[in-house]
Amino acid sequence: MSNNLLKGKKGIIFGALNEHSLAWKTAVKCHEQGASIVLTNAPIAMRFGEINQLGEQINAPIIPADVTNMEDIENLITKSMEHFGGKIDFILHSVGMSINVRKGNVYSNLNHEWMLKTLDISAVSLHRVCQVAYEKDAMNDWGSIVALSYIAAQRVFPDYNEMADAKALLESIARSFGYHFGVRNKVRVNTISQSPTMTTAGSGVKGFDGFLVYADKMSPLGNASADSCADYCVSMFSDLSRYVTMQNLFHDGGFSFTGVSHGVIDMMKEM
Ligand SMILES: NC(=O)c1ccc[n+]([C@@H]2O[C@H](COP(=O)([O-])OP(=O)(O)OC[C@H]3O[C@@H](n4cnc5c(N)ncnc54)[C@H](O)[C@@H]3O)[C@@H](O)[C@H]2O)c1
Repeated sequence: MSNNLLKGKKGIIFGALNEHSLAWKTAVKCHEQGASIVLTNAPIAMRFGEINQLGEQINAPIIPADVTNMEDIENLITKSMEHFGGKIDFILHSVGMSINVRKGNVYSNLNHEWMLKTLDISAVSLHRVCQVAYEKDAMNDWGSIVALSYIAAQRVFPDYNEMADAKALLESIARSFGYHFGVRNKVRVNTISQSPTMTTAGSGVKGFDGFLVYADKMSPLGNASADSCADYCVSMFSDLSRYVTMQNLFHDGGFSFTGVSHGVIDMMKEM
């Protein structure tokens, strides 16, 4: 159902890899709500080809960009403005990757070159995107930038590994850039801290299946789905959230503020 919440708005969406991706769902919903979209992902992700289907479905061009490469991001912002014929209203940063997690290195035994790569891809990239958009004066006033985070930025989830540090940095960058972008352009910058969700990135975390069930039982509303995450992103890109900035917004069915739940106690009794 469309309320045309994003009618006439133009946005760049990073990170749609396949139909499970949070970015994919968000792109579809933004399109339904009347937005024009540019899709982007790492050149290597293009090889899988699925993003082309999404591009056709929502009539969006795809401009490859590795988020660790400043030239790629500059090209992306410039080409997007050319495509839109003007400035940008919203950006979704939905990017995360850890080689240490992929290789099964535990937190107490990390490869630090890879750790720096994780921080670069998953967190510093938000700064790059914001900085390029800021320098090129690419955002319309009252625009909105959202990055996706996870509660491991605040609390320990041992197998989330170094991604926890990346998310803490990501949330800090959103706060800090939110200040500068807010003062100059009334642009808001926030992170949405999403429930665990079965996606390619999510399922790379050790023990993810069990954790998904635990989080669902712990959350009074249950885990927030990818579709509802997309809805929340739409609301953050709309004009209905214009004074929300520099926040980390939990979108987790109440998980973050629940100490223990009857669902978890019952689960323990059954074990
Ligand atoms: N799935 C979850 O449980 C969950 C929960 C909270 C937050 N998040 C966050 O949501 C975001 C999206 O993840 P997802 O779960 O949809 O998984 P996903 O695997 O579908 O998306 C991750 C994306 O990052 C892209 N990417 C990786 N390296 C890149 C690079 N160098 N340049 C450009 N793009 C690159 C990948 O191609 C992919 O499209 C991530 O930031 C993730 O940490 C996910």
